[in-house]
Amino acid sequence: MGAPHMEGLPREDYPLNPVNCDSWDGHLFVNLDPHSVPLAAQLEDLPQRFAAWRMRELRFHQRRTYEVAANWKFIVQNYNECLHCPVLHPALSRLTDYLSGENCNPRRGYIGGSMELKPGVETMSLDGKLGRDYLPGLSKTQRHEVHYYSIFPNLFLSLHPDYMMTHTLWPRAVDRTEIVCEWHFHPDEMAKANFRADDAVEFWDLTNKEDWRISEQSQAGVKSRAYRPGPYSAREGLPLAFDRMILEREAQSKQR
Ligand SMILES: [Fe+2]
Repeated sequence: MGAPHMEGLPREDYPLNPVNCDSWDGHLFVNLDPHSVPLAAQLEDLPQRFAAWRMRELRFHQRRTYEVAANWKFIVQNYNECLHCPVLHPALSRLTDYLSGENCNPRRGYIGGSMELKPGVETMSLDGKLGRDYLPGLSKTQRHEVHYYSIFPNLFLSLHPDYMMTHTLWPRAVDRTEIVCEWHFHPDEMAKANFRADDAVEFWDLTNKEDWRISEQSQAGVKSRAYRPGPYSAREGLPLAFDRMILEREAQSKQR
C-alpha cells in the first residue's frame, strides 16, 4: 500500500534487484551477475554428457557442512587434481588409480574429468561394494566410472554408479570457506527397507576431511613470506585452466 507522502513516485523505477535463476536436471542455479551468460551456454555439452544419470529423479539423503580455513580457490584446485591421492587418500586410492580416467578439455564454464574404478571395485564407498543398485540408465561403461566436475564458480558435481554427491562452496572470508556436501540416491533404493548409505557418506566424509586439511595447509603455505609459486605438472591442466579463468574474469571485472 502506497504511503500518502510518496504519491506520484513511480514504483517501477525502484524495483528489487533482478536475479537470474535457471535449472539443469534438478539443480537450481542462481546468478547475481547482471552480465552473466545464460546457464545453457555455460553448461555447453554437460546436459547430454550426464543425461544417463537422470539427476532430477534422485532424492536428497544427507548433508554435511564443513568450515575450512582456506580460500575457496584452493579447494577448487584440490578437487581438480589427483596427484595428491596416493599420499593423502589411502581409502580412495584402494578404489581408483590416480592416473586412470580422462579429463575433458577445459571450458569457459566448467572443468572436470572421469576416473575408472579398479577391477573388482563397484563404487566409491568404504568397502568398494555396491550397497544399492546401479542408477537406472547407466551403460556398462558408465557403471565403472566416477565423474568429477567443477561447474564455476562453486558447484562440484560427483557422479557415481549408484549415487550423486554435490559440494557447494560458500566463501565466508578470504581464508575461510563453508562447504556443503550432499548425497542423493535413487528413490527406488531409498524406499527399500534395507536401504543404507553410510558406506558412501562415511567414505566421502573421510576423504573430504583429508582434502580440507591439505587445502588449509596450502592456505598456510601461501601466506608464508617464504612462499614461491612453482610450476604445474603436465597432469595439472585443470587447475591451470581454473587459474586462467579467474585471471580472465578479474581482468573483465576491472574493465567494467
Ligand atoms: Fe583429494
